[in-house]
Amino acid sequence: MLIPIPSFLRLPIYAFELSDKSYKYLRLKEVRSGVVVDDFGEGEIATGVIERGEIKKKEVLAALLKELFAKKNIKFVAVSLPEEKGFLENVQLTGIKAETEIRQALELQLEEHIPLPPSEVVFDYTLARKEKNHFDTVISAFPKMLVDSYSEVFYSAGALPVLVESELVAAVRSLIPKNFAATTIVMDWGKTRISFSIIENGVLRFASTAPIGGETLDEAISKTLNVDLKKARELKLKSGFLPASPSQGGQNQDSLPVFQAIVPVITAIREEVGKYIKYWQTHSESKEAPAKLFLSGGDANLLGLAAYLQQELNIPVQLADPWANVSFPKNYLPDLERQDAIRFVASIGLSLAALDKEKNI
Ligand SMILES: Nc1ncnc2c1ncn2[C@@H]1O[C@H](COP(=O)(O)OP(=O)(O)OP(=O)(O)O)[C@@H](O)[C@H]1O
Ligand SMILES: [Mg+2]
Repeated sequence: MLIPIPSFLRLPIYAFELSDKSYKYLRLKEVRSGVVVDDFGEGEIATGVIERGEIKKKEVLAALLKELFAKKNIKFVAVSLPEEKGFLENVQLTGIKAETEIRQALELQLEEHIPLPPSEVVFDYTLARKEKNHFDTVISAFPKMLVDSYSEVFYSAGALPVLVESELVAAVRSLIPKNFAATTIVMDWGKTRISFSIIENGVLRFASTAPIGGETLDEAISKTLNVDLKKARELKLKSGFLPASPSQGGQNQDSLPVFQAIVPVITAIREEVGKYIKYWQTHSESKEAPAKLFLSGGDANLLGLAAYLQQELNIPVQLADPWANVSFPKNYLPDLERQDAIRFVASIGLSLAALDKEKNI
């Protein structure tokens, strides 16, 4: 018999999202009238500790987390893994009869889809569509060595990882509203990288990450306007990317130089998004171009960016709602404002999965 655990005895699971230069954490908590943000925070990670998603200095990272875990009494964690080190593959399975046979069937043909020996791979799958004579599945896989190195660091810092998954899979859980069936593309633009994801019927079908971070904007401003990086970042936040003339209500004298400095980066990014939209339209089974672009990550806040992309790509573009699937109590507002919450999408998505797990432990 399953005895429900009283909520005060439940062990909190904290969600952790790591990137090359930062860590973020968040925990959602169930209260009587919904779900609230119990805790959240972030910190910097020194250059060289994690490089392109790979942990290079395990002891340094473990020591940093150990201090935080001790302070907050964190014993269980849900951890996201860097997409750039993962593999996402759409696999059509024929010749099996029941959903229960999917995992085994995928295991048998793993080598055809993932360029690593099966013994060196950790994978999970989602059933995207069940057709009459086949199953459309999506494999999300990571090198076992990478998963082990993340687990090891969290474990040696004093917490047990109870859930480990791709950061983009986690992000989808946060920002694609449940029952939102239209094909969408998500662009997450953070400090060190940009990721593109394509989602159909709530399932992540395609992902790609490039090392063009928001700091590329800071560097372009710094170089062109001959200011230091700190000042460049301030200018970026203040001026944004406002291509309109003053009469159109956009740019003023101050923002013109910033606009000019970052035009090449923004144009390159627009081309990237355009490329992925086209790719999906021509290569997916559905042949459906994404109908909407959601933006997340800190640099998605760049003034004028959403409007510019919408105009150039000719599809609706909007800042994602990171709380799309969190049922807050009436009149509750989290301490995390929208422009910051949008940087925590992976943590929020992980926390939603962690909540389910807490209930079932
Ligand atoms: N209002 C704003 N306008 C433009 N950029 C902003 C704004 N606020 C924050 N940023 C930028 O957001 C970035 C930080 O975002 P985020 O927290 O998503 O990155 P990260 O997750 O640490 O990095 P990554 O995942 O790319 O390694 C920085 O480049 C910062 O300059
Ligand atoms: Mg990030």
